[in-house]
Amino acid sequence: MKIAIGNDHAATEMKFAIMEYLKELGHEVINFGTDGHESCNYPEFGEQVGRAVAAKEADCGVLICGTGVGISIAANKVKGVRAAVCSDCATARLTKEHNDANIIAFGARIVGLELAKDIVKAYLEAEFSGGRHQERIDMIHEIENR
Ligand code: RB5
Repeated sequence: MKIAIGNDHAATEMKFAIMEYLKELGHEVINFGTDGHESCNYPEFGEQVGRAVAAKEADCGVLICGTGVGISIAANKVKGVRAAVCSDCATARLTKEHNDANIIAFGARIVGLELAKDIVKAYLEAEFSGGRHQERIDMIHEIENR
């Protein structure tokens, strides 16, 4: 898969580690940064990854900030994005199965690296269930269009 990744200064080291992990799993990674450690603004990176995913330049996205919350809120402002913050593997799996989340987010200050890897893997291996869940996603799209 082609996976867009973005982060703020709170998550640079974890981002590099997750990029390596994704490559080990055989994925192509598009890195939107930041690659630095100086304070920066997470909305920039959330928007860039969100736009890449919404435009289908990437199959899905990974976003990391201190909590995963701010950067996912920013990404969710892009039409077509369904970014979900996850701190456990069950939520990561279910947000693909039920919400067809196209971006997974988590917090570098909240989860450790091994759990972060497991969250990403659970998300990537899960499949959207469709059916009644598709109807609910259609309702979310209607909200975007009102
Ligand atoms: C940066 O200090 C921090 O606010 C950010 O990484 C994130 O946690 C925001 O939601």
